[in-house]
Amino acid sequence: MDRFEYREGNLFCEDSSVADIIGQVGTPVYIYSSQTFVEHYRKIASAFSPVNPIICYSIKCNSNIHICRMLAGEGSGFDIVSGGELFRAIQAGGDPAKMVYAGVGKTDSEINQALDAGIGWFNIESVAELENIQCITADRKIVTRAALRINPDIDPKTHRHTATGKKHSKFGVDIEEAESIIRKYAKHPFLQLTGVHIHIGSPINSAQPYIEAITKVLAVIESLRKDGFVIDTLDIGGGFGADYVTNQAPLAEDYAKEIIPLIKDRGFKNIILEPGRSIAANAGILVTRVLYIKESAGKKFAIVDAGMNDLIRPVLYDAFHFIWPVNVDEKYVPNNRSESFDMPGLVEYDVVGPICESGDCFAKARKLPELKRGDLLAIFSAGAYGFTMSSQYNSRPRVAEILVRQNLSKLIRRRETYQDLISAELLG
Ligand SMILES: Cc1ncc(COP(=O)(O)O)c(C=O)c1O
Repeated sequence: MDRFEYREGNLFCEDSSVADIIGQVGTPVYIYSSQTFVEHYRKIASAFSPVNPIICYSIKCNSNIHICRMLAGEGSGFDIVSGGELFRAIQAGGDPAKMVYAGVGKTDSEINQALDAGIGWFNIESVAELENIQCITADRKIVTRAALRINPDIDPKTHRHTATGKKHSKFGVDIEEAESIIRKYAKHPFLQLTGVHIHIGSPINSAQPYIEAITKVLAVIESLRKDGFVIDTLDIGGGFGADYVTNQAPLAEDYAKEIIPLIKDRGFKNIILEPGRSIAANAGILVTRVLYIKESAGKKFAIVDAGMNDLIRPVLYDAFHFIWPVNVDEKYVPNNRSESFDMPGLVEYDVVGPICESGDCFAKARKLPELKRGDLLAIFSAGAYGFTMSSQYNSRPRVAEILVRQNLSKLIRRRETYQDLISAELLG
């Protein structure tokens, strides 16, 4: 699952003691396990190897350049949604030919930037965007490839903010209209509309929604092919689950064994996957220190030095993150990570941050070993949509990031300073 484990009551990331790292860099800090990133990537690559996929790591989930570089070194491409992500992916050594560019609001300058780079595919989200990219490619006389993002109207059974493939979502084109759009726009001399893309939401903890969505788009593809249209690329998106709770998500091979029979030998030259969370979530923790224990109206609060500006998932998505002290008496070493995890002697706390918002809460009524000021807490499964969604709200400098490789830990992003807070505002 990941490379965070307790050894004699002390949390280790691979062979590095988390407390020792904190001794050097302080808190709050994100700590990542390089082995976990690589192992998760390799598991997906191996599970889907029968269809020889192009794996485009979804850079939005964790875009630190050191992590992108590591994944590019494994052969990964990138799923990007902005000019900034394209810039990062290229800086990390990513091959633009193995990149897919989605997003409903690509600007002309971003489209041009992607054309200059030699992007693999534009994943097109509307007719208006399609027409615009056709104009730009024709003006510039650049041939490029595109996939039409189809909204298959599937319920991925996830949080409403992360469901992207239901009718009336802003993403993609309605499946009822997809075929006629491709018929109308496919014969363009510069924009080769030869792919179909879906990304139905995240996290999706079963293969079933993929099966339903792929089955629906395959019918569209078959109908087009009958009339001579070439559809040689199928991008099935990301969204594979991660173990926020122990064994919550299927393994890569569980998804693969159901999805592969549907897409193998169907005449696709390129099968693309866009995993993010399933690679990154369990590869990272956010470590925070208890500042104060407060008792009020019969309730105990553990007030910590990380806030919702550092990890917004709990307030934004009602997301669960397992939280446990970095150093515990051996009798308190947890044997699973779940909301209901219990053992004798635990005390109930609301774990809250210092931000002036009542939503700034990492856990409510969470049972933990008794805490005191100065204790370190690990917030698990924070490697995806953690740092990348962080902000400077309340003028809090963004935290540092550390990448561990066995017993070596490397600072891969320094803690921001107060000067960083205002530097873009000092206009001379
Ligand atoms: C188009 C697209 N592809 C892939 C992903 C990655 O999803 P996940 O991190 O759940 O794998 C996202 C996430 O929002 C997305 O929007």
